[in-house]
Amino acid sequence: MTHLPTLQDRIARRRPGFALEQAFYTAPEIFAHDLERIFRRHWLLAGPSCRIRQPGQWCTYDLANDSVILVRVESGEIRAFHNVCRHRGSRICLTSDGHGSSFVCPYHAWAYDLDGKLKAARHLPEGVERTEFGMHPVAVRVVEGLIFVCLADEPPDFSAVAADLRMYLQPHGLHHTKVCRRTVENIRANWKVVAENFWECYHCAPAHPEFCSVMSYAQAANSERLARERADFEAAWIEETRRRGYLAGRVERSNGALHQGGRLPIRPGYLTQSRDGKPVAPLLGSYKEYDGGITSFMHLPLIWYVVSNDHALLTRFTPIAPLETELELTWLVHEDAVEGQDYDPENVCWLWRITAEQDKSICDNNQRGILSSRYQPGPYATTERSADEFVTWYLQELGAQNH
Ligand code: FES
Ligand SMILES: [Fe+2]
Repeated sequence: MTHLPTLQDRIARRRPGFALEQAFYTAPEIFAHDLERIFRRHWLLAGPSCRIRQPGQWCTYDLANDSVILVRVESGEIRAFHNVCRHRGSRICLTSDGHGSSFVCPYHAWAYDLDGKLKAARHLPEGVERTEFGMHPVAVRVVEGLIFVCLADEPPDFSAVAADLRMYLQPHGLHHTKVCRRTVENIRANWKVVAENFWECYHCAPAHPEFCSVMSYAQAANSERLARERADFEAAWIEETRRRGYLAGRVERSNGALHQGGRLPIRPGYLTQSRDGKPVAPLLGSYKEYDGGITSFMHLPLIWYVVSNDHALLTRFTPIAPLETELELTWLVHEDAVEGQDYDPENVCWLWRITAEQDKSICDNNQRGILSSRYQPGPYATTERSADEFVTWYLQELGAQNH
């Protein structure tokens, strides 16, 4: 009789330094484990807080079968609740954005206040207390204008990530931004195919000519001369930028930490991530001049954002199904900037719109190849270390609960 491999078998037989075997990228039962052990345990970026600026404004964040309501309450704080009615379980908010002084379930009209308390329910039987049936809260943190949620009952400690985020994002004043553009589209690939692609730049030279024309590090790995030039440029930029009083340099991912990031230069002569390096919007935060750097920050499982002096890009990758991942891109500019006068969204979004389109088709094609009966995991290149680290971390998380 054939012995079917268990999840632990599959984890144990992964060859170090190699991509995952097919089932991890395709099997519905592994996808279910991913949701349970990765996405319902870790902190996730829900979006920028400027999306719900006024009290009573809310938006939803759907993650596979779960849906979270994020709402700004009267005090100005942001709260999060499961989008599940405590009566018979209907979704309460049926659209992605809205505004009101309460939440009313569309089924039998149970009404909840913005704090999640059940305030009206007709014909409740004797002995049933409304106070017992508030909306289920979700853990939420707002750090430097970004909303994070965690679906776990006991969320992991977020303080180290929050401290580094504060240090790197505080100068950009993301609290005082507005959404320039938000796009949502689905990639026909498992979320790990997408994550691996975004964690490595080995593919940048063959796949992203525009990105390589803007970011000088993208080509540096392919030539000793370019690598030396980039290293010298980076070192001089860090020294000069610090001398001028601005933040520069990296946070390395230490053992066990889930995040890394830093502020590094674009390329000589470039002030922002635009086609010609010229500014595309008014300065953000406390910057009085362009320093020509970008702050990029990633944390596992799936969060990555990049901030230039005049705009920011947030990416949110959400697993939808074993072979489907949602990609949401949100570009932010200063809240006082006037479209058509201070910025043209086409120019603000140019680099990452085109780069994300390329990544989408790369991931679609990668998944199609992985679905082939002849797919076998191949070795990561030396310049794909972060993809390898991601996969190694993922397997540890997946396996840890089985002991
Ligand atoms: S399910 Fe919401 S009021 Fe009945
Ligand atoms: Fe890419």
